[in-house]
Amino acid sequence: MVPSESLRHDHNPRMHQGGKLSFRSRVQDPDEDPGDRLVLGGKNPPALRELVPADFREVEIEIGPGKGAFVLAATEAKPDTFLLGIEAAQGYASLAAARLHLSGRRNGLFLVDNGKLYLQDRVEDGELAAVHVYFPDPWPKRRHAGRRFFTPDVLPVLARALRDSGYCYVATDNAGYAGQVARVMGSATDFARDEEEEARVLALGAGHAFSPTNFERKYIEQGRVIRRYAFRRLPR
Ligand SMILES: C[S@@+](CC[C@H](N)C(=O)[O-])C[C@H]1O[C@@H](n2cnc3c(N)ncnc32)[C@H](O)[C@@H]1O
Repeated sequence: MVPSESLRHDHNPRMHQGGKLSFRSRVQDPDEDPGDRLVLGGKNPPALRELVPADFREVEIEIGPGKGAFVLAATEAKPDTFLLGIEAAQGYASLAAARLHLSGRRNGLFLVDNGKLYLQDRVEDGELAAVHVYFPDPWPKRRHAGRRFFTPDVLPVLARALRDSGYCYVATDNAGYAGQVARVMGSATDFARDEEEEARVLALGAGHAFSPTNFERKYIEQGRVIRRYAFRRLPR
């Protein structure tokens, strides 16, 4: 599964879509073994259907899983669902994959790639039951705003990849970015915010949606307000 081509992000144009992302280059590859739970996307990542075993009909993607707490919990809470975590920072993806490998569960995988681009060019129409985006980098500087995940260009990407009545779940502590998410998603004719779903999945507990994540734990400890949204893909 690991391509031989160079994986240095500096030479990988996929990682520069919308401007250079944050790769946390200081995060070193961990010593733990990621086994076959890590896929290095490189310049030509495999399509989603090549990564998901044929017996899984429910497929969900998390963009920017960091150290992987949500994917780990979700693979346990939802054994019939396949979870793909797409992480730009290889060190984080590798650490998360090592944890998943250690768990012995086979219904999840971590891929090093640019999540927005992957949804755009490696996922088939309506292939996903859900997309999770938790504490996406807010990129506060005006000149970096194009690097955010929730810019207007993400709407057709999400609307195509999600199946009818599939969900995009978002959590953020950043009030400005929360406003942008609400504006972008609220302007879409293909999506509707679903507050009942927000309450339902929160009540289900860890690994269903929103929780747990490392940033969530940190921000709860700091007493920050966390805003959570579930947007339902309206029928085509
Ligand atoms: C603030 S961290 C949040 C990590 C995790 N979701 C959590 O809540 O603990 C944002 C993560 O998203 C990753 N990231 C940012 N843009 C990305 C993109 N376009 N594709 C994939 N990962 C991305 C970063 O490398 C980082 O690990």
